[in-house]
Amino acid sequence: MPIASNDRPYSSDDDPRRTGAAGAGSAAAAQGAGSADGAARVAERVQAVPGSGIRRFFDIIASMDHVISLGVGEPDFVTPWPISEAGIRAIEQGHTHYTSNLGLLELREAIARDLERRYGVEWDPREELLITTGVSEGLDLAARAIINPGDEVIVADPSYAAHAPAVVLAGGVPVPITTRASQGFALDPKAVEAAITPRTKALLIAYPSNPTGAVLERPTLEALAEIARRHNLLVISDEIYDRLVYGGFEHTPIASLPGMKERTITLGGFSKSHAMTGWRVAWAAAPSDLFAGMLKIHQYAMMSAPTVAQYAALEAVRAGEEYVVAMREEYDRRRQLMWRGFNKLGLACAEPRGAFYAFPSVAQTGYDDETFAEQLLIQEQVAVVPGSAFGAAGAGHVRACYATSYDEIEDALERIGRFLHYAPLAK
Ligand SMILES: Cc1ncc(COP(=O)(O)O)c(C=O)c1O
Repeated sequence: MPIASNDRPYSSDDDPRRTGAAGAGSAAAAQGAGSADGAARVAERVQAVPGSGIRRFFDIIASMDHVISLGVGEPDFVTPWPISEAGIRAIEQGHTHYTSNLGLLELREAIARDLERRYGVEWDPREELLITTGVSEGLDLAARAIINPGDEVIVADPSYAAHAPAVVLAGGVPVPITTRASQGFALDPKAVEAAITPRTKALLIAYPSNPTGAVLERPTLEALAEIARRHNLLVISDEIYDRLVYGGFEHTPIASLPGMKERTITLGGFSKSHAMTGWRVAWAAAPSDLFAGMLKIHQYAMMSAPTVAQYAALEAVRAGEEYVVAMREEYDRRRQLMWRGFNKLGLACAEPRGAFYAFPSVAQTGYDDETFAEQLLIQEQVAVVPGSAFGAAGAGHVRACYATSYDEIEDALERIGRFLHYAPLAK
């Protein structure tokens, strides 16, 4: 039952421009990328991106009974009812047409006010704020709007599985920077600066982090901002977990630092904070020239974000705060249980400061991360995601999501304890 054998995430070694290979197309070739006469039918940059290792893992889970899933990266809560009701009301009132390409003005204005209050940054809702179909679309728009063929974009390793592929699909080259458990998986500004070349166009950062739970301290963010300004780099900042920060730690939006708003594309949304993954609605905030580039792609590729979802999001911004706070409190309780639980079991786990993931090391068990995840699933029906699905530097770790019930996490920890008893290096 292989989980992620050739679903390795994209790494710079796979890049045809760097290796001279015709594209790391084993996964794509298996999907029929070549035609009968041998000519590639699927574009090289698409072939260079392996399929999602996580997706395949979920397919395996779906075929099994009684699995406790710590694998899926989405809230177990359903969307708070008043938000869903606003969506239902939108249908009842016949709001079933396209909106403006930019999204409902009312929603953009509400988001602009909310961001001014929370981030201290003013974005013009008419020229700098776009409603997108999830942060997923925002990432694609940001990458396609700024990348010329061969441009390099610095990304953290490990990082969210879609980040490097977004760069590759836009014709760019992701340059992964190893982050380490010993440094709380924070991006090291010195390592970033050392990786800059004349081709470097942007820095893609995403804190709080999926998969590590890392949150960047303000001085680190200031150092990164200073590097971006000095080297005239753009920044794409995926801040989808901005509301999920715990234990006195704070999230600083990089656009709020001096001189950064004008070089940063900030992406945020409702999927995680308001348990709205299925509605597919988010926002992108960017200086007007980058905004115009993104809008051009969005209007041809997407037209507008789902209208009903936009009305629901409007209610989320206006009246969703109490739900965000309540869900965050519950995640925090589960977070404490999970990371302390892993450490008690001997799986070293740095304190996750944000998002809803713990990223313990499994190296001391004698299993590599893929075997650990596979055997844990088979023997104890607990699903975690191998850390190498998020980049080479994730190897030796697994991602466990605590957006699942407290009782299930307790049960999962018990099962993991039993499993560890039989691990190769068990005493
Ligand atoms: C870091 C990060 N960015 C973006 C997304 C996708 O967000 P959306 O549902 O808004 O497309 C995810 C989902 O897991 C994520 O973890």
